[in-house]
Amino acid sequence: MDIKKTLLSPEKLKPLYEDALQLKFGKMFTDYMFTLNYAEGKGWYGPEIKPYQPLALDPACAVFHYGQEIFEGQKAYKSKNNEILLFRPEENAARFNRSMKRMSMPEIPVEDFLYYETELIKLEERWIPTLKGTSLYIRPTGIATEPALGVKPSSEYLFFIILSPVGAYYSSGFKPCSLWVSTEYARAGEGGTGAAKAGGNYGGSLAATAEALRKGYNQVLWLDSKEHRFVEEVGAMNIFFVMDNKLVTPPLAGTILPGITRKSLLQLAKDLGIEPVERMISIDEVVDGISAGKVTEIFGAGTAAVISPVGKICFKDKEYVINNNETGPWAQKFF
Ligand code: PLP
Ligand code: COI
Repeated sequence: MDIKKTLLSPEKLKPLYEDALQLKFGKMFTDYMFTLNYAEGKGWYGPEIKPYQPLALDPACAVFHYGQEIFEGQKAYKSKNNEILLFRPEENAARFNRSMKRMSMPEIPVEDFLYYETELIKLEERWIPTLKGTSLYIRPTGIATEPALGVKPSSEYLFFIILSPVGAYYSSGFKPCSLWVSTEYARAGEGGTGAAKAGGNYGGSLAATAEALRKGYNQVLWLDSKEHRFVEEVGAMNIFFVMDNKLVTPPLAGTILPGITRKSLLQLAKDLGIEPVERMISIDEVVDGISAGKVTEIFGAGTAAVISPVGKICFKDKEYVINNNETGPWAQKFF
């Protein structure tokens, strides 16, 4: 579908950031956004690239009441030869559609998704930072826009893409972060929406995250909802353990997000000489393993977080320090 483009005159363009390394995650946005509409019986229509601007939405829109919303997170980089590189974008397009389907929202053909986002990114090329540790974060989003209060799938949707130049996700940068294990809250349950990138999963996690912060930790390490025993993931990343010289991560059983970084690490591990293992890991095995020196590294992996070493874990009010609270060799290598 041809994209309608409304372009700004050069003097209306925003000034670029001064130092990409100082950028706060997701606070600054580029000059343009992409939008696409959907109506039942008509399908997706009206692709547009236009100046970044607020959305005008009816307060009755389904997204505000029943949370029919999903999103993706991707990054664009510049190569040494000044080409624009996206990291496995077809994986994000496919996951976007799996999330849409789970939330009873209409899918967007993968080729269209990729075409729309690359057209926007090409136009916004000047915003892609080039320093190590920086990138242009891409946020494709789908929302339900039918103004109707009945609980049912919306008959209208909006798909939009916004772009944000970013540095490190955590204010600690690449320094190890600390995790608090929640034994009461759960992020997702069997049969729920944990494997979809649905906004509600994140909204529901904020109370536990606030508690983690109050206790002096950066993020929550989530356990399974049934027994509060098996490790699942962290708020914005999948989790990896170096245990007995193997790279161990929980399996994809429907309650954790199938991370694209996670999938990449499992593939890379073989090339780098560490055996990847997907299996259930109890929190007791983790803390006993740290104490016994069997768990030598823990790190999270995700688009925003990249590789985020974990230096401390708090479980039942006891703190466990991993690798002297320093970045370990595997986290460094994967980063
Ligand atoms: N888990 C959660 C809950 C996330 O929000 C993310 C981030 O997207 C990830 C894991 C990592 O997924 P990915 O590597 O695809 O970014
Ligand atoms: C990402 O890593 O892209 C995410 O979506 C995580 C987060 C900022 C919600």
